[in-house]
Amino acid sequence: METAVDYDVVSIDEFDALAIEIRTPLSTKYPAKAHAKKVSRQLGVQSGLVYLPGKGVSQWEDSDMGPPFRQRRFFYYMSGANFPGCAVTYDIGADNLTLWIPYTPPSLILWFGTTPSPDECLAKSDLDHVKYIADLPKYLNATLKDAGSLYVLRAEQIPKSLSLGLLKPAGAVKIDTSALLPAMAEARVVKSDFEIAMIRRANDISSAAHRAVCEGFPKYTNECEVEAAFLQACVAENAHMQSYPVIAGSGPNAATLHYDANDEPLEGRQHVVLDAGAEWQCYASDVTRTLPIGGRFTKEGKAVHDVVARMQDECIDMIAPGVGFRDMHLHAHRVATEGLLKLGILRRSDGGSDSSRTRKSTAEVVEEMLESGLSSAFFPHGLGHHVGLEVHDVAGKQRLMSTVAPWTVGGGVGGSTKKNKRDLILREDLVHMIESPAIAAAAGISSGSKVLGRPLEPGMVVTVEPGIYFCREYIEAYYLSKPELARYIDTAVLDRYWGVGGVRIEDCILVTEDGYENLTTAPKGEEMLKIINGK
Ligand code: GLY
Ligand code: MN
Ligand code: MN
Repeated sequence: METAVDYDVVSIDEFDALAIEIRTPLSTKYPAKAHAKKVSRQLGVQSGLVYLPGKGVSQWEDSDMGPPFRQRRFFYYMSGANFPGCAVTYDIGADNLTLWIPYTPPSLILWFGTTPSPDECLAKSDLDHVKYIADLPKYLNATLKDAGSLYVLRAEQIPKSLSLGLLKPAGAVKIDTSALLPAMAEARVVKSDFEIAMIRRANDISSAAHRAVCEGFPKYTNECEVEAAFLQACVAENAHMQSYPVIAGSGPNAATLHYDANDEPLEGRQHVVLDAGAEWQCYASDVTRTLPIGGRFTKEGKAVHDVVARMQDECIDMIAPGVGFRDMHLHAHRVATEGLLKLGILRRSDGGSDSSRTRKSTAEVVEEMLESGLSSAFFPHGLGHHVGLEVHDVAGKQRLMSTVAPWTVGGGVGGSTKKNKRDLILREDLVHMIESPAIAAAAGISSGSKVLGRPLEPGMVVTVEPGIYFCREYIEAYYLSKPELARYIDTAVLDRYWGVGGVRIEDCILVTEDGYENLTTAPKGEEMLKIINGK
């Protein structure tokens, strides 16, 4: 973690239930230079020029309108500039970070307003220079002859003037299109203090918005009102962008992981899964709560919510530097398996006769069930992911459950080697993860340690978001249709749970030197129920 951040006084009005604790970093610039240095350390070179183009304005097909501007995240990481038409260069040898900005003519100002001046950019972000982008080709021409290598994220981002042959730097320029992406992804894994402050603020705003939804919840009759209440609370805090489309799913819609139609009546439904997180200055939050319609969970809904809450509480409590995220994921499956067995949805393969002499102990049944990977029918996604400039931050081998080197242990056996929240965790993947400690031991890796997947480090921000879902199409297609798997599922009991749809609970957690800090303060458990019920 780098870059100290001062905080504003925390203002809380005790008598205002809507009031939230928002801590604002004071007079600290975006740490673009620190990020550039971190990237060059990851590149492991002493010279070369990093070039990153920002995003331009875009329009929809056959339209003169376009989507809201969304800056390129790798560009933002090294510039802190959130407006269209820029580029950034970092001359590694000269340690010179320059932001290249557009000149905005008055005719454009009339329509879209002005863009920040060089001085305003320098005041906002830790940069060496800010210059007009019209001068960039000349700079590239002059600099590349000394810098030698040009680092870009991918071939499409080679400066046009160079790829079109308009630039002719003296001397050979080596264009590297492969090293920068993994170097930047790695640099982004551990957040600087400034970034943590941004993620914290995004979480503060989202947490207050979830609280506001709980307060208004009794009067909502349609999913769209849940979405609207959340957005209203965010925009009123000047958080205009969401990290992802709001998910407000009731009944069976709660079983669709990324449901976003949000247009169905709540009548006759048990609860709403509200997965919604605001963005703050390009940094994400990601928060889920499951709210009972009518203020009380149904018997089945409560039973499932209790299991998911235990999955989340116990996994969050595991968080500390050095812990493997896949161990947490497997722990969540252990809790889910125990819970589903207790509810009778999963059943023992020996028929469950209590009088049987060969009756297995509960622990043995749980082990058998875990090894069969059956819980993946009900918990089919990853336990979490990094959060930062993207809601699903950094990909590739930086993923929390990656088995790619240097965290490789039997990578490629069974399922895929990289898993994130958004990837389905198939039964085969789960079985592979469960087998991996044995593979590790056999490979003589980290003797006695069960750390598999990337170990957590201080400064990482990750979600912990277990869920249990009853997606009829998914469960019928991949589990109930296979006799060797279906024998573990009691369909008579399961029939009572289709109406539950799904339950998910999600918080953003900062890994600290000695454990963790939960950045999400949205009410949950008893506190959430009290607010919904106006107590
Ligand atoms: N809201 C997307 C996710 O939870 O990963
Ligand atoms: Mn998430
Ligand atoms: Mn989410």
